[in-house]
Amino acid sequence: MDLAGAARALGAARRVAVLTGAGISAESGVPTFRDAQTGLWARYRPEDLATPQAFAREPQLVWEWYTWRRELVARAQPNAGHRALVELAACVQHMTLISQNVDHLHELAGSRDVLKLHGSLFANIREDDRLPVADSDRTDDVPPRCRVTGQRVRPGVVWFGESLPADVLHAALEAAREADVFLSIGTSSAVEPAASLPFMASQRGATVIEINPDTTPLTGRCEYSLRGPAAEVLPVLVRHAFASVE
Ligand code: APR
Repeated sequence: MDLAGAARALGAARRVAVLTGAGISAESGVPTFRDAQTGLWARYRPEDLATPQAFAREPQLVWEWYTWRRELVARAQPNAGHRALVELAACVQHMTLISQNVDHLHELAGSRDVLKLHGSLFANIREDDRLPVADSDRTDDVPPRCRVTGQRVRPGVVWFGESLPADVLHAALEAAREADVFLSIGTSSAVEPAASLPFMASQRGATVIEINPDTTPLTGRCEYSLRGPAAEVLPVLVRHAFASVE
C-alpha cells in the first residue's frame, strides 16, 4: 500500500526535503491561491494583482488587496499538517522545509529556518531597492512610503515575473539534491522553479512522496501519491514512519 511504503521510505531517510504549497494551509482557512478571491475581490484574478506592473499601475488597489489578505491570514491558526512537520523535523537527522506559502503558519506551528521561496506576506520592502522597511519608518499613505528614501512600500513577497531570493533558492536546490526523501505537499506543481525541485531530487535518487487530494504534473512521476488533505494524511504518515523503525 502507498502509505506503508511511503512511511517505510520516510522512516529510513537521513535527509528529508519538504516542499509545501497553499494546500497545507487550506484547512487553516487560508484559501489556496487560485481560490482566494471572494467578496469584493472576486472580480480580480490574483495573477493580475500580484505583479510589479499592477503595483506600478494601481498601487492603492494592490496594497488594499494585500491588506485584506494579511487580515485573513492573521486570523488563521496552524493545523495538524503544519504540526506534523514540526514532529517530522524532530524525528529525522536532517530536514529542510521549503515553502511557497507567504503565510506564517509553519513558523507559528514551531518550524524553524523555513526557506520561504516566495517571501512573506507580513514583510514590507521598498519598491525600488527591495530593502526591508520597519513599521516605524513608513508613512500612513496607501501604499505607505519610506520616510527615509521616499520610495513606495510594497509587500515583501515575490510577484509573478520576479526572481526568487537567490540565497533561499540556492539552499532549496541543495536540499533537493541531497535528499533521500522529498515530500511535496499541497502544491499544484505548476509554478517554477519550485515545481522542478521534486524532479531534481528524483533524478538524484530521492524517493518522492506527494500529498494532495488532486492529481498534479508530479503525480505520475513520484513513487508514492497519497491522496487526501494534508492535515489528515501527514500526521498519519509521520506516525507510521516512526513506528515502523523501532
Ligand atoms: N491538502 C493538501 N493539498 C491541498 C488541499 C489540502 N487540504 N487543498 C487543496 N490542495 C492542493 C490543490 O489540489 C492544489 O494542487 O493544493 C494545491 C494548491 O495549488 P495552488 O493554489 O496553485 O498553490 P501553490 O501550488 O502553492 O501555488 C504556487 O503559485 O500562485 C502562485 O505564488 C503563488 O506560492 C504560490 C505558487
